[in-house]
Amino acid sequence: MKTFTTKTNQEIQIRLATLMDLESIQKLNRKWIISSLDTENKQDGFLYCEPFTPEDLANIINAQEMAVALVDEMIVGYYINDNFSCAHNQYKSVIAEFKRNNIISQHARVSNRTQIVVERDFQRLGIPKAMLEFLKPYLKPKFDHLFSIVINENPKVIAHQKAGWEVIGKDTSSYYTLYNLIKD
Ligand SMILES: CC(C)(COP(=O)(O)OP(=O)(O)OC[C@H]1O[C@@H](n2cnc3c(N)ncnc32)[C@H](O)[C@@H]1OP(=O)(O)O)[C@@H](O)C(=O)NCCC(=O)NCCS
Repeated sequence: MKTFTTKTNQEIQIRLATLMDLESIQKLNRKWIISSLDTENKQDGFLYCEPFTPEDLANIINAQEMAVALVDEMIVGYYINDNFSCAHNQYKSVIAEFKRNNIISQHARVSNRTQIVVERDFQRLGIPKAMLEFLKPYLKPKFDHLFSIVINENPKVIAHQKAGWEVIGKDTSSYYTLYNLIKD
């Protein structure tokens, strides 16, 4: 467990997710999923994907690939590195294409799918970066890079870039982003 003090002097606890957190994480995940890209008010970000199943989350938790951020013992954010869900397989084939094009090096070990959520009231406090820093010792022995796909219409891609993620590709639907764990 680590305490992160924000620029507004709020204390945020960051720790690995446990199976006890599963329900809260599932709720937070569902809360940010939109069913259509026509949804209004997307300025604080959104998720456009299938929800995680309890089995997916349990696998990710057991692999120690997810951090949570807490305020007064309430989960206000998560940082998921997903190498288990059905969706992660789609990501895997996108990563393979980047490797074929030498945009990601052939032998790099890539964590297939990162998904980050921070509750509205706790956004713009740098919590995603703090969760990533906390997770690095768990991720670095297994992975060289993290990978994430962000829908073009998500204005929060800027937050990824500010936290050190690099946009390695863009098409009509998405930004393809990579975080290099080797460099630091
Ligand atoms: C994406 C998300 C995790 C980013 O977290 P956040 O707490 O909002 O952003 P951060 O504190 O990490 O922002 C870091 C930097 O990005 C930039 N930034 C973030 N939001 C911004 C905005 N709305 N406008 C301009 N710059 C912004 C700023 O430079 C910010 O630093 P600053 O606040 O010191 O100026 C969060 O918005 C979220 O959970 N959204 C809903 C789900 C989602 O969209 N997830 C992404 C898909 S994986």
